[in-house]
This record gives sequence, structure tokens and C-alpha cells, in this order.
Amino acid sequence: MPMGEEEPMELEIKKESPSSKEERERVEGIVEKNLNRVIEILRAKNYGIIEPVKSVRQEVKEGLEEAPEAEERKGHETRVIGFAGKGGVGKTTLAALFIRAIGEEEGSPSILAMDSDPNTCLPEMLGSQDYETLGDMVEKYRGATLPIQKFRQEFASLLLRNEQEGYDLLPMGRSEDQGCYCMVNNLLRSSFRDEVLKGSYAYDYVVMDCEAGIEHISRKTSAIVSDLVIITDGSQLGMNTVRNIREVGRKVKIDIDNFYVVVNGVEAEEIIKDVKNLSDELEITFLGTVPYDDAVKKLSFRGGSVFELPEDSCAYSKVKEFVRTMLSRDQK
Ligand SMILES: Nc1ncnc2c1ncn2[C@@H]1O[C@H](COP(=O)(O)OP(=O)(O)OP(=O)(O)O)[C@@H](O)[C@H]1O
Ligand SMILES: [Mg+2]
Repeated sequence: MPMGEEEPMELEIKKESPSSKEERERVEGIVEKNLNRVIEILRAKNYGIIEPVKSVRQEVKEGLEEAPEAEERKGHETRVIGFAGKGGVGKTTLAALFIRAIGEEEGSPSILAMDSDPNTCLPEMLGSQDYETLGDMVEKYRGATLPIQKFRQEFASLLLRNEQEGYDLLPMGRSEDQGCYCMVNNLLRSSFRDEVLKGSYAYDYVVMDCEAGIEHISRKTSAIVSDLVIITDGSQLGMNTVRNIREVGRKVKIDIDNFYVVVNGVEAEEIIKDVKNLSDELEITFLGTVPYDDAVKKLSFRGGSVFELPEDSCAYSKVKEFVRTMLSRDQK
């Protein structure tokens, strides 16, 4: 189109279904109204009109082309599976094994691997070296203001930069000062909803490796979790942590649909019996036991990834069973 010539007002929408005619007309009406408003504003501010409006229009056009896809995503539900428990019980290991197992399910679901432990370990267990943490991203704005819109853009592009084969990565990392981190948590909550749960990404699953202990529950930073898998080694401390997580969860009225318990690395019958009793008492689903697996232990010594484990590794086989059970269950 020659320079200076206006594009026609009619906007082209691809992939139109018969039932969307009314919707298209409605959207076009809104677009037209808003473009006129943009022109008014630009006129009032004495900006050169044609070029800026053209670029706005181009963006709107692109947005509309994506709209039918966004429509399809309506009703899409992301299942957010968190891993909690006392320190060293195998949260990161099991989160990584779950990510591998979910990725192998039919239809190759889209997965976001989220590491909310400031001591970032999940990426390594998944074999990723090339990633940026949310803490790194925020540090770039130290001393400057970071408006919510800018944060959202940065957040979406962080997800893009952190794409790995079969999953995307979101390590929270750490930030130098705590106040900054609280702000990030607040900003993250809304960006998370808009980008991760229903936006352009809308993952099928988010697998979240949580910090050890119950802090994240009492601070409600786990509020987006739909399924919480509490891991225990059957020790007194491990059992107390299960109890505390469940009870604090009730007290702060955290909105988790399903609680599960997994015993990791021990197979002694009396321990398993105790954990089952505790699960009954706390009304948590006992998912089962992941056996001690030498291949898993060896990985941690040489810094290998769970994708290197053989298909028939005893820990991985068990996790695959858990994933089938959990995914076949409707959320409460
Ligand atoms: N089923 C298993 N068989 C053998 N070793 C295991 C098993 N599960 C976990 N481990 C080993 O136990 C150690 C602790 O595991 P992991 O780092 O996953 O625990 P964590 O709960 O994430 O710890 P932290 O609280 O420090 O984050 C690692 O060396 C890991 O390889
Ligand atoms: Mg860990």
C-alpha cells in the first residue's frame, strides 16, 4: 500500500466459524470505536496521525487473528501440581520425575516447570542449563519503576526465553531484597493468572517444586496450587510436616482441591502403615510409595537429569503410575 494511504476499516478475521459472525461484528464494533478514540487522542496531542494509527491497527488485526484460538481456550483448566514436604525428602526429584511422566502422556500436554525454591535446583534435575530466573529479570529493574504492564510483557518474554524441549521453565530464583520479592509475588499472581492459566500460554499442567516446610502455605504463595503432593520419608519430622501443611492449609483457607501423600525412599511396612493412618486421619489421599532407587541417587552425584533414567527405573515406573492415577481423577 502506498505511503500515506489509509487501510480500509474492514478487518480481516481468519478461521471464522458460522456461529462467530455475531461475535465478529461485535468485536469489530469495539475495535472501530477504539481506533476512533485513538485517533482523537493522537489529534489532541498533535501527534502525526497516520503512521501510529496504522501500527496500532496492525496490532489489533494480529490480536483478532488470534482471537478464535483464545476462544477455544475458554474453559481451559490448568492443573497446578505442587510438591511440598520437609527438607531433603525428594520434592525436587519427584517434581522432575512427574514432569517427565506427564510429558509422556497422550497428546504431549504442555507443561510449565516452576521452581519456587529460591535455591534453584529443578532446572538442573531436568537437565536445563540455559535459563533465566524471575529474580534475575526483576534485578534488572532495581531502582527503577516496573509498571504492571511492563512486568507482564517481561514475564511473557521470560517464559518464551525459557522454553525447553517438552516443557517451559519458570525458576523464581531469588532477589537481593525481600521487599522486592513481595512485590514480585503480587505482580506474579496476576500475571500468572493472565499468562500461565488462561493467556497465550495456558499450560495444561504447571508442576511446582515448593520450598521446604510450610512457610509457602502460611504465606499463601501456594494459593494457585490445585493438587498438592506432600512427600514424606516416614520420619517423625517428615510426618509432622505433613500434619502441619494440612492443618495450616485449613487455617489459612488455602484453596487446594486435592491433597496427596507420597512416601519416598523407604519401604518398611510399619512406616507405610503409619503414613496411611495419618493420611486417613487428615483426609488426604495416600498415593503410594516411591522405592529407593540407586539410579536416582547416582544422578544426584553427577548432576544428571531425570530424562537419563531408564524407562524401567523403579522410581520412575512408580511415578508414572501416580501420574495416571492423578490425571484420571477428576478434580474435586
Ligand atoms: N526415590 C529415591 N531414591 C534414591 N534417592 C532419592 C530418591 N528420592 C530422592 N533421592 C535423593 O535424595 C536427595 C534429596 O532429594 P531432593 O533434592 O529431591 O529433595 P528435596 O526435598 O527437594 O530437598 P530440599 O528440601 O533441599 O529442596 C537427592 O540426593 C536425591 O537424589
Ligand atoms: Mg528441592
